[in-house]
Amino acid sequence: MAFLLKGAHVVDPQAGLDGIADVLVEGTTIAQVGENLSCEGAEVIDLAGMYLVPGLVDMHVHLRDPGYEYKGDIATETRAAAKGGFTGVCSMPNTNPVTDSGAVVAYVKSRAAEVGACHVYPAGAMTKGLRGEALSDMGDMVAAGVVAFTDDGRGVQTAGMMRRCMDYGKMFGKVFMSHCQDESLVDKGQVNEGVASTRLGLLGWPAAGEELQIQRDIALAELTGAKFHVQHLSTARGIEMVRRAKANGLAVTCEVTPHHMFLTEDDITDAYDTRLKVNPPLRTAEDAAAVIEGVKDGTVDAIVTDHAPHADWEKAREFELAPFGMTGIEASLGLVLTNLVSTGAISYARMVELMAVNPRRILGLDPVRVEAGSAADLTVFDPEVSWTVGADGYESKANNCGFAGVALKGRATYVLCGGRLTLADGKVR
Ligand code: DOR
Ligand code: ZN
Repeated sequence: MAFLLKGAHVVDPQAGLDGIADVLVEGTTIAQVGENLSCEGAEVIDLAGMYLVPGLVDMHVHLRDPGYEYKGDIATETRAAAKGGFTGVCSMPNTNPVTDSGAVVAYVKSRAAEVGACHVYPAGAMTKGLRGEALSDMGDMVAAGVVAFTDDGRGVQTAGMMRRCMDYGKMFGKVFMSHCQDESLVDKGQVNEGVASTRLGLLGWPAAGEELQIQRDIALAELTGAKFHVQHLSTARGIEMVRRAKANGLAVTCEVTPHHMFLTEDDITDAYDTRLKVNPPLRTAEDAAAVIEGVKDGTVDAIVTDHAPHADWEKAREFELAPFGMTGIEASLGLVLTNLVSTGAISYARMVELMAVNPRRILGLDPVRVEAGSAADLTVFDPEVSWTVGADGYESKANNCGFAGVALKGRATYVLCGGRLTLADGKVR
C-alpha cells in the first residue's frame, strides 16, 4: 500500500525540516520526501493546512492488560493512543500478573501485534511483583523485548534495592525509570500536602515524599553508572535536582505530564472530583510553573500522559477510596498545542523533541525521521480545529479524563503506524 501525503507543513528537527513538503509512503517505510511528488497507484491525502511530524510516542501509559481489562485493554487503549495522534506507547508493568517475567512481556507484545492500533513497547518491573524485595527476571524480559525497567505505581522503597537493580541490570543497557514515592512519608496521602490538604481535610502527600527519591536515585545513577529517568516529575525542587544533575554530566532524564503542567491543587474543589486524584498529586501553581519552565529550558526531556484508565464505579467512590490516576492520551496533543505551542512557550520543533524524538532516544528505540528509508510512523494534526475534551466520548474504555469539558485548539487528523493508516480524518480505523 502506498500513501502520498500532500502539502503538509513538515516539522522534524532531526531532518532539519520546517516547511511545506510531500511525503510518499510505500509499504512500511517513507520512500521519498520532497516537492510536487507523484506516484501512480498511491492513495493521495491532501494535508494542506495541517502539520506532519515524526510519530508521537507516549512513554508512560497503563494499558491494564493483562488482568485489569475491566478498566482498559490493549485494543481499547491503543485505539485511544491512535485517536490522540500516537504511533507508540510504553506500557507500564503494574498489570496482573505483574509484567515481571518474559512470559508476560511476550503476552503484551503478541496481543499488541494482534489487536493493537499502535506499537507497544513494554516496560518490565524492576522487582518481583513490584514488591521491592527481589530482582525481577530482567534478562528473561530483555530477551522477550522489554525496553525499560520501572516499578511504576510504586517507588522502590530502599536505596539498597534500587542500587542492586541498577548494578545488576545496567549490563542490559536499558533505562531505569523511577516512580518516586517514599511510602514512609506519603503513607495514605491523598492530595498535595499544604494548602490543599488543609482546605479539603484530606491526608497530605508531601513534595518531599517525591523529591527524596529523585535525589536518591540521581545519586545511585552516579554511583552505578546506570541510565536513570524520573517519571511524572511534579515539583519545582525536583526540576531543579534534574537540572543540576544534567549540568554535572549525569545520564539523567525526566518526563512530565499535562496534568502537572496545566492543573494545580487549586482545581480540586469541594466537589471532590476524583478524576483529579492522581499520583503524584496535583501540586501548587508555583510547581506547575517550574515544570513548564523545565519544558522550555530543556531540563524536561519528554511529555507523557501517565494515561491511567479506571472503571466508572471505582472513581465514583469517596475521594479517599477512589484509585489514583486519570486518562489523558486523547487530550495530550491538544493540550500541548493549546497551552504551550499556541502561546509561544515552545516551538513546534521543541514539541516534536518532547513527544517523538526524546521518548524514542530514552527507550533506545530506532529514531523515526521524516526522510527516505525511515519507518513510516507519522502523525498529522490540524492546529486550527477547535474541540472539547470528552464531548464525543472516548476511545478509551475509561471516562476518567481530568480535562473533560476543556476547550482545546489542535487535534490529530491522520496517523500512519508502520505504514498502516490507524487514524484517518480524525477517526480510528
Ligand atoms: O496516578 C497514577 N495512576 N499514578 C501512578 O503512578 C499509577 C497510576 C495507575 O496505575 O493507576
Ligand atoms: Zn507512576
